[in-house]
Amino acid sequence: MSHSNQQQNTNKSANKLATTTVRAGINTDLHHGAVVAPIHLSSTYSLKGFNEKRQFDYSRTGNPTRSTFAQAIADLEQGCVGIATSTGMAAVHLLCQLLSTDDRVLIPHDCYGGSYRLFTHLAKRGLFKVSVVDQNDETALAQALALKPKLVLIETPSNPLLRIVDIEKIAAASHDVGALVAVDNTFLSPALQQPLLLGADIVFHSTTKYINGHSDVLGGVLVTKDKVLGEELAWWANCIGITGSAFDSYLALRGLKTLAVRMKQHESNAEQVAKFLQNHPAIEQVYFPGLSEHPNHDIAARQQYGFGAMLSFEVKGGVAAVKGLFANLNLFTLAQSLGGVESLISHPSTMTHAGMELKAQLAAGITQSLVRISVGIEDVEDIINDLDAGLCASQKECASQQETSHATHVNLEINTADIAKKQNNAVEQNNKNLSVKTASSQLTPAYNGFW
Ligand SMILES: Cc1ncc(COP(=O)(O)O)c(C=O)c1O
Repeated sequence: MSHSNQQQNTNKSANKLATTTVRAGINTDLHHGAVVAPIHLSSTYSLKGFNEKRQFDYSRTGNPTRSTFAQAIADLEQGCVGIATSTGMAAVHLLCQLLSTDDRVLIPHDCYGGSYRLFTHLAKRGLFKVSVVDQNDETALAQALALKPKLVLIETPSNPLLRIVDIEKIAAASHDVGALVAVDNTFLSPALQQPLLLGADIVFHSTTKYINGHSDVLGGVLVTKDKVLGEELAWWANCIGITGSAFDSYLALRGLKTLAVRMKQHESNAEQVAKFLQNHPAIEQVYFPGLSEHPNHDIAARQQYGFGAMLSFEVKGGVAAVKGLFANLNLFTLAQSLGGVESLISHPSTMTHAGMELKAQLAAGITQSLVRISVGIEDVEDIINDLDAGLCASQKECASQQETSHATHVNLEINTADIAKKQNNAVEQNNKNLSVKTASSQLTPAYNGFW
C-alpha cells in the first residue's frame, strides 16, 4: 500500500477491528461462564409470568445468538442498530420496506445482479420507482438525484467490475435532496471500509461472504447509524420474517473472529495475482482497484483501508478462451460466491449476473470474456501457477482451433475458383450459424436461472 493516509487508516482500523472481532460475544454467558458465546437454538422463551416478558420471547423477533452477532457487526461498522437477516438478499429486500408506491430508489448500473433483479422487478410491479444510474457519470447522477429519490443505493467496489465511487460525495449530494443512503459493503467488510463514517445512513452485507469467510453459511446484516431508523427496519424484519437463524449466526460469529487476519492475507494474495495477470499475454484487461492504472484508484486509496481480494479480467479470445481457462484449472473452483478462504472463479454473465438482461449486462460492461475471481488465502504461488497453467493451456487450445479452421480455408482455395467460392460461402454461413447459436444460448431471460 503506497498511500500514506491509507497506511495510517489501516493501522488505526486493523488494531481496533481485530480486538472487536475476536472479543465479540466473549464472556457473555453469565449462567455457566462459557468463554465463547453459546448457541441458543430454542425457538421460544418463557415469560416470567402474566405479561412479564424477558429480553427474548420468540426467536423470529429476537434471539440471543443472532443478537450477539448483529451487535458485533454494528460495533465494527460503528453504527447503532444491527439486524441479522437470513441472506444478503433478505437485507436488500428489507431496504425495500422503506419505499412506498411514489418513492424512487436510485441503484447503480453495475450493482450485484440479484439486487438489480429485485429492485427492477419490484418496480415493474409498481411497488416503487427505480432509476438505474452510472454513479461515476456526474451528469447522470445529478439528473437522477433531481428526481428526489427516497433511497440511494451504493455498491463500491462494484460487482463484478470493481468500479469505485466516492461514498462521501454521493452521500452528501443524496442528503441534499433528502435521500437516505445505503451502502453494500460486502466486497470489503468493515475491516477495509466503514461507509457510515463516510456519511452513509445504512450499511449492509451479504455475510455469506467475507464476514463468515468459510463458504458454509448464508446470511445478511444491515446496520443503521440512527436508532429510530434501525428500530423501524428491525420491526419490518420481524414482521416479514426474514431474520437469520441462530445456527447461521453462531457460525458467522465464529468466522468473524478471524476477519482481520483473513482480510490481510486475502489482500496480499490479490495484489500479487493482479500484478501477475496484468503482465500476462493472455489477458486483455485487469480490473483491480489496487492497481495504480485503475481509473478510481485514488478514491479507493482514500476511502478504503485496503483494496480487497476481488478482481476481474478480460481474457483474449472471448468465451472460447474463458471455457478453456475453466477446463484447465486445478486449484480454482468454478463456483458462485466469494469471500471464502478458498479461491473461486466465475463467469459473471452466465452466473452471478444472470439475473440481469443481456442489454443491462452490456450497459454495465459485463462481456462474455469477463472472468471474476475471489482470491483465497492459499499459498499465492499456487494460485498464480494455477492461473498461469490454465491461461496458457486455454490460449494453446484456441490457437490450434484457429489453425484447424485456417487449414480448412486453405484446402478450399486449391479447388477451382467457382467451387471455392461456393464452399467458402457455405463455411462462412456455417460459422455465422454457429456464432448465432453461441450468442443466443448466452442470452439470459429475466426468469431464467435463479442466481
Ligand atoms: C455484493 C453482493 N451483495 C449482496 C449479495 C446477496 O447475498 P446472498 O447471496 O447472501 O443473498 C451478493 C451475493 O453474491 C453480493 O455479491
